[in-house]
Amino acid sequence: MSDFDRSNDSGRPTGTAVSPADPPSGPAAPGRFPDVPSIELDGVTFEYPDGTRALDGVSLRIEPGEVVAIVGQNGSGKSTLVKHLNGLLRPASGRVLLGGRDIRDAHVAGLAGRVGLAFQNPDRQLFAGRVSAEVEFGPRNLGLRGAELQRAVAAALEAVGLAGEAAANPYDLGYSRRKLLAIASVLAMRTPVLVFDEPTTGQDARGVACVRSVVAGAVAEGRTVIAISHDMRFVAECFGRVVAMRAGRVVLDGSPSEVFAESHWSELRATYLEPPIAAVVGARLGLGSTPTASGLIAAARAALDGRPAAPGPADSGPNR
Ligand SMILES: Nc1ncnc2c1ncn2[C@@H]1O[C@H](COP(=O)(O)OP(=O)(O)O)[C@@H](O)[C@H]1O
Ligand SMILES: [Mg+2]
Repeated sequence: MSDFDRSNDSGRPTGTAVSPADPPSGPAAPGRFPDVPSIELDGVTFEYPDGTRALDGVSLRIEPGEVVAIVGQNGSGKSTLVKHLNGLLRPASGRVLLGGRDIRDAHVAGLAGRVGLAFQNPDRQLFAGRVSAEVEFGPRNLGLRGAELQRAVAAALEAVGLAGEAAANPYDLGYSRRKLLAIASVLAMRTPVLVFDEPTTGQDARGVACVRSVVAGAVAEGRTVIAISHDMRFVAECFGRVVAMRAGRVVLDGSPSEVFAESHWSELRATYLEPPIAAVVGARLGLGSTPTASGLIAAARAALDGRPAAPGPADSGPNR
C-alpha cells in the first residue's frame, strides 16, 4: 500500500491544521453560492510512486455551475483526476486552478471548504462510530456550531435518505448506504463544488434516485457538480457535459448528444463504454442522437407527426 492509499485521506479537514494562506471561510448559507469557482486543469500529468502514469496531459476547464460526468474504463485515471481538484494529489507537471488561482501551495484543509469529494470507496472516507458524528465532522471543522451545525447534518442525512440512521454505526449500514453516507458527509460541508466518485455504483433504483435528487438539488443551487459514473443512463439524463477518459487522457468532451452520437461509439467502446440504450434505439431508427428516453420519444413523435399516417383502421377513427 502506498502513501496514496492511506485510509484517512478523504480531503476533509483533519483537526485544526489550516495554513494561514487558506483561512477557512466557513460553509455558505443554504441556497447561497456566490463564489462558485471555475476549475481548470492545464496539461496535468501524474505518476504514482510505482511509475504508473495515471494522468497524461489532461487539460479541462469547468465553468461555475456546470454539471459534468466523467466516464471511462476502470483504470483510465478518473479517480486520480478528481483527487487533483481538492489537492489530495498534486500534479507532476501542469497546473490545477480554482477560481483562476493555481492551488499548488493551497493546503488540503483550506481547499476542503471549496471542493467536497466523496470517495469511490466510502470505507476510505468514513471513520466515525456514529452516522451523525461522521456527517458532523466536516462542517464542524469549517466552523459550524450549535443549531446551524445540527441543521446542516440533518439536511445532509435527509438528502440521502439516512435521516433515520443518525445514531447507527456506519459499519452496520450496507455498502451502498455507506456510499450515501459518504455523500452526506460531503453535502454537509456546503461546498460550492461537489465531486462524487462513482456515487451510483452498487446502488439499487432507490439509491440511484437519491443520487439523482442530490445532483439536481445542487445544480438548482448553482453549484458545480462533477461525478464519475459507469451508469450511462444516469450520465445522459442528469449531466450537461460528458468527459470520457482513456489511459490518462480526455478522449471525448461534449454534451450527452455529442458524446453519445453514433459517430463516437467506436471511441466509447475503446474505453469499454456502451452508449445508453435510448441512443442506440434512436440511431437505429434514424432519429439522430437521442441519449435520453425522453429525447428519443420526442424525436420519435416528431418523426411520426411529420409523415403521413400509415393507412389502416386506426386512421379512420374520430381522433385522426
Ligand atoms: N495508489 C496507487 N498506486 C499505484 N497505482 C495506482 C494507484 N491508484 C491508482 N493507480 C493506477 O493508476 C491508474 C488510474 O487509476 P484510477 O485513477 O483509480 O482510475 P479510474 O478511477 O478511472 O478507475 C490505474 O492504472 C491504476 O491501477
Ligand atoms: Mg476510480
